[in-house]
Amino acid sequence: MKALVLAGGTGTRLRPITHTAAKQLVPVANKPVLFYGIESLVAAGITDLGIIVGDTEEEIRAAVGDGRAFGATVTYIRQERALGLAHAVLVARDYLAQDDFVMYLGDNFIVGGINELVRKFEAEKPDADILLTRVDDPSVFGVVELDATGRVVRLQEKPPEPASDLALVGVYLFTPAIHEAVRAIRPSRRGELEITDAIQELVDRGLTVRSTTITGYWKDTGNVPDMLEVNRSVLDTIEPCLEGSVDEASEIIGRVRVGRGARVRRSRIVGPAVIGDDAVVTDSYVGPSTSVAENCVIESSEIEFSIVLAGSSLKGVGRIEASLIGKDVQVSRALHTPRAHRLVLGDHSKVQITP
Ligand code: DAU
Repeated sequence: MKALVLAGGTGTRLRPITHTAAKQLVPVANKPVLFYGIESLVAAGITDLGIIVGDTEEEIRAAVGDGRAFGATVTYIRQERALGLAHAVLVARDYLAQDDFVMYLGDNFIVGGINELVRKFEAEKPDADILLTRVDDPSVFGVVELDATGRVVRLQEKPPEPASDLALVGVYLFTPAIHEAVRAIRPSRRGELEITDAIQELVDRGLTVRSTTITGYWKDTGNVPDMLEVNRSVLDTIEPCLEGSVDEASEIIGRVRVGRGARVRRSRIVGPAVIGDDAVVTDSYVGPSTSVAENCVIESSEIEFSIVLAGSSLKGVGRIEASLIGKDVQVSRALHTPRAHRLVLGDHSKVQITP
């Protein structure tokens, strides 16, 4: 069995974070979302991975490499334009050959892995198996209707009036039957070849499409609270580990990971929290559910329930909560009068100020 991992396309929902970075590389507990997907494929015994890449190919290649670090072999497959998930299957036709495969959307996060699903698929051999989850706003997902016996009868991509609250999760198990289906469909209203339509084609041809409903799921629906929440739940499961240095005047409480080369001085870190490699935390408090990425500097500040991406610094800024701070951002205290906020913010930034 192979995997087709989709890491093409452009990210608009997590702006401004994804103005400059591939959305699949947005970190959760200091690790790109994409890596969790790759790891769960490898954990399910799937090590032959084809990764679909587009404009952000270079960034994805730099992060994943040849796959050896994950115990996998990676083949990169270029998709010139993001013409849809079914289009990605079309361009991967030669790579996929006659193998069954898992299609995994690189921006999806599934708690608990996919081992069981893969085993079930291999044992029962339906023509396709799709993953579903109940969501509050089905209209931003592919939506599925099941009959009384749980059989898949209808799939619709982002319907304005959803017929159920069962959304398609970004993991699909396919036999080669899908190749004919992706060739048979036409572009949708949004101009994409939808995998949802291709699966409907399988259903219409009388092939067996199973479904499995799961609970632990997250996708970049663009809302920062969601992202903070998934970060929180992953941090809850980390193994504490102090690889960097922590001085005597500091206090580490609960599940905390301090990365290689990181330095904690005269500070208090209350887990679950991660401090990335080579980060420096001085005279500060880092509270629960916080991920501070590599090479950050936290100085005379307090931060809790937040994510700080690589290379950013917070210096003398008081308390920060429920925040998502991008790469190489500098937040510092204004030194001179008049007391004023001085801001240089990128497009689509959001700032809340306590006067
Ligand atoms: O996340 C689940 C949803 O994913 C499903 O409920 C929908 O049925 C399915 O169509 C898909 O919806 P999105 O519109 O949210 O997909 P998105 O454009 O975010 O693409 C998902 C991943 O696939 C993302 O990592 C980018 C990548 N991609 C996307 C397209 C359209 C490609 O690599 N190539 C593409 O052509």
